Formats: sequence, C-alpha cells, structure tokens
Amino acid sequence: MRVKTLVKIGDFGEPLQSMVDREFHCLSPAEAFADTMAAGRVEGILTRSNCKISPDLLDRFPALRIIATSGVGYDGIPVRDAAARGIVVTNTPGVLDNAVCELGMALLLGLLRDIPHGDRFVRNGDWTNASFPLTTNLHGMRVGIVGLGRIGEGMARRLEPFGVKIAYTSRAARAVSYEYFDSPLTLARQSDALILCCAGGEETHHLVDERVLDALSGGWLINIARGSVVDEAALCRALRSGSLRGAALDVFEEEPLSASPLRSLPNVVLSPHRASATLQTRSAMLRMALDNLHAVLAGGTPLSIVKL
Ligand code: DGY
Repeated sequence: MRVKTLVKIGDFGEPLQSMVDREFHCLSPAEAFADTMAAGRVEGILTRSNCKISPDLLDRFPALRIIATSGVGYDGIPVRDAAARGIVVTNTPGVLDNAVCELGMALLLGLLRDIPHGDRFVRNGDWTNASFPLTTNLHGMRVGIVGLGRIGEGMARRLEPFGVKIAYTSRAARAVSYEYFDSPLTLARQSDALILCCAGGEETHHLVDERVLDALSGGWLINIARGSVVDEAALCRALRSGSLRGAALDVFEEEPLSASPLRSLPNVVLSPHRASATLQTRSAMLRMALDNLHAVLAGGTPLSIVKL
C-alpha cells in the first residue's frame, strides 16, 4: 500500500514522532513549500492544539482531504474554511480527560496550599529560621465550574470527595445534581474558586473579564481551558491589587508565555500548557489522530469529526 504524505504542523517529540514516521511520510511545511510535486502529494495535515493554521495554507495543498489535530481543542484550525473546501477536520476527545483533570486538581491544590513556595522555602534553607505562612483548605469551598463538558464533569467528580459545594455554568443546564448558573458572572458571585474547563474560540473569548473577576473578589481562578477565555490584562490587575487571591494557569493568551507581568506575581502558579502531557495520554491522542487520518484517507469514517 502506498504510504500517504502528510504535512506536520507542530512538534511531537520522541517517541511520538517515530510513531508518525512508521505510518506516514511526513513533511515539514517548509519542505512541502519548497517542492511543488511534494505539495501536490500532501493529503493530510497533522497538527496539535497549540498550533495555528492559516486559511491560506489550505490552498497550498490541492490534494488535502483532512486536518487531524492530536488534541481536543480546534480553535487554531480554520474549520469553516476547511469545510468550504470539503476538507474534514478531526480531533481526539475523551482520551485526554483524565490527564487534564489530574493537572486541574494538582493546580487547584498546589495553589491553595502554596506548594511552589513551600518547595522553594525548604530548598533555600528558609525553614530553619522561619515558619511557612498558613494556607487555605479546599474542604468547605464553593467551587464554580465554567463548562460542564467531559472535562468539567471529570473535575466535578474528582472534587466531590473533598467536601465542596459544586456549581456550574454551561451553554445549557444539565441533568446533574450541581446548581446551575446562567453566566460566569452569576456563578462567580457564588464561588470561592472558579475552574475554567470550557472550549476556546470566538464564543468564549474573554468570557472571564473584569466584571467576572470583580465578582470573584477574594477568590481563586484555575484555568485549564484556553488562555483566550480570560482577559489576561484584567487578571493581572486583579492579582496585583489582591482582589483575586490567586490563580493557577496552564494556558495563556500568547503561548509560550514570554514577557508577561504574570511571571513576577507571587500569587500565581504557572504551568506551560501541560494538562494532557503525559506519555500515556499523548500516545493515546496521537494514536487516535493517526487512526482518524487512516480512516479518512481510506474513504472511511473517522473516530471523531469536528462539526460546524
Ligand atoms: C487540547 O487537546 O486541546 C489540550 O489543550 C492539549 O493539551
């Protein structure tokens, strides 16, 4: 069987890249652009959630049939332009939920118990002449979840044994026992901690703005969704003034985070968009993306298709 040609946008690293190379002939965009014959053979794009694909790119590959992202989020893919050209877009929901929720819990607990400072406190030898400041219980808190999809629900299930009161906001109320609020603003007013689990994209851009942050005054923010969901300038102001007690962030408006006031604020825990980044999970995500590619390129139905 002829090995199909893909353009790969984004880095997979080893051992994942070898998995791709065993099944497909993989070109970088530069290699494909340098050779018109090669560009003509490209039938698929394989990408990751942290990459942006411009609509113009789609016209460079006349045989393109599928864009497969190894990730659940597809806010970096021009889905409408792809649909207009008959190009299928696939993603990998489900297989990363556990890893993302585990990091969400780690960030929440790490923030409340100030684990990063505790680590530095012991390492630097400060423990021998000072006592570490008191921190905050999760138990007894009112926790608001923004976006009760698979990941939001996974967070709620993991939070239940901690003895917290869980509420949520989502596009619509769900048949669950948690209290529903019709907006992040009304939810924030009733929450001590807000956990963002919704999808990125235009619909949720700056869903958490200055007003929501004011409503969360004295509380905590955890973002395992997308950086674009939060107005980061407003977040920095709230953290600097102390009106927000702390934030734990795995995602940022610009990634990788470079010059940002967030880096020098003491009341934030920063993580380099690593929620799904375990070997088991990234392997399962890539397996699903490759299976999607094989299915579509063989004229079949992919495991998970992104619908408009
Ligand atoms: C996703 O799949 O969208 C996640 O952000 C990857 O970590």
